[in-house]
Amino acid sequence: MHPAIRKDAVAVITGAAVGIGYAIAERMAQEKMKLVLSDKNAPALMEAIHRLRSKFPGSTIHPVMGDITSEAVREQLHQVAVSTGEIAILINNAAIIAGAGPSGNTTQWRSLMEINFWALLMLQERFIKTLGHQQSHSAIVNVGSKEGITTPPGNAAYAVSKAAVRVLTEQLAHELREEFADKISAHLLIPGYTFTPMNFPGTSIDSIKPKAPWRAEQVAERMVTGMNTGEFYIFCEDNEVTRELDQRRMQWSVDDLIHNRPALSRWHPDWKQHFAEFSKGV
Ligand SMILES: NC(=O)c1ccc[n+]([C@@H]2O[C@H](COP(=O)([O-])OP(=O)(O)OC[C@H]3O[C@@H](n4cnc5c(N)ncnc54)[C@H](O)[C@@H]3O)[C@@H](O)[C@H]2O)c1
Repeated sequence: MHPAIRKDAVAVITGAAVGIGYAIAERMAQEKMKLVLSDKNAPALMEAIHRLRSKFPGSTIHPVMGDITSEAVREQLHQVAVSTGEIAILINNAAIIAGAGPSGNTTQWRSLMEINFWALLMLQERFIKTLGHQQSHSAIVNVGSKEGITTPPGNAAYAVSKAAVRVLTEQLAHELREEFADKISAHLLIPGYTFTPMNFPGTSIDSIKPKAPWRAEQVAERMVTGMNTGEFYIFCEDNEVTRELDQRRMQWSVDDLIHNRPALSRWHPDWKQHFAEFSKGV
C-alpha cells in the first residue's frame, strides 16, 4: 500500500457527500483511516456520514460543512484535520461542471474557477506547510478530468479549469520531488465517465447505473491501485472508452500542435474523418 494510505492517519476529502468523493471516503475508511470530510451540501454530508458510520462502526469521521471557496471554511478544514491527527492525504475533489463557452458569461467563469481551481490551489498551499513539517509520508491527490487534457468543445470554463489543475499538479509533483524526495507525493486522478450526481442529477448511491459510466467505487479503487504502483497520472477508463482510444485522442490533441492543424481538429469538418481513421479499431 502507498505509505500515505495507512491506519489511523487522517484523510481529508473535499466534496465528499456524494459521487467520487464519497466513494473515496468509503475506500479510505476500509483502510481504517480517520476521515475529515467537507461539502457545501450539509444534508447530503450528514447522510454520507451516517452511512459511513453504519458501515464502519467505531470509525473517526469529522464533517466540515461549507463552501470551500470561503477562506474561513478552508481554515476550519485545516484546523479540524490538524486536531484529528497526522494528516496523510488531501484529496482535492470538489468541483462543479456548470460552466460557460469561450465568449460566455464571465460571472459563471469566475465562480467555476473559484471552486475548481482557486479553492484547490489555496487548500494545497495550506496543507503542504503542515505536511512538510511532519516526518511521515503523505500525498496530495488533485482530481482532474480528461476534459483538461483533450479539451473538447462544449464547456470551455470546465476544460480550462481542469487543464489548469493538470498543469498545477504536474508542477506540484516536480516541486515536491525536488524538496521532499518521496516524503510527499502528488497525483492527478483522471476519472472517465462516472455515474455520479454531476452527470446524473437527482440520482442517489442506490440508483441503477446505465452501462457506459464506471461506478464511483471503481474510480476510488483505481486511485488506490494507481497510488500503490507510484503513478502520477491515475487515468481511469469507463465502459465505453478504452485506454487505447484515450491514447489516440491524446496523441491527436498533441499532434494538432506538432502538425499545425486547426484548433480542436478532432471536431473540425475537414478533419473529423481523419481522426475516425486514426482511431479505427481501438
Ligand atoms: N463524474 C464524472 O464523470 C467525472 C469525470 C471526470 C472528472 N470528474 C471530477 O471528479 C470530481 C468529483 O466529481 P463527481 O462526479 O463526484 O461530482 P458530484 O457533483 O457528483 O459531487 C461533487 C461534490 O462536491 C461538492 N461541492 C461542489 N462545490 C463545492 C464547494 N464549493 N464547496 C464544497 N463542496 C462542494 C458538491 O456539493 C458535491 O457533493 C470533480 O472534480 C469532477 O470534476 C468527474
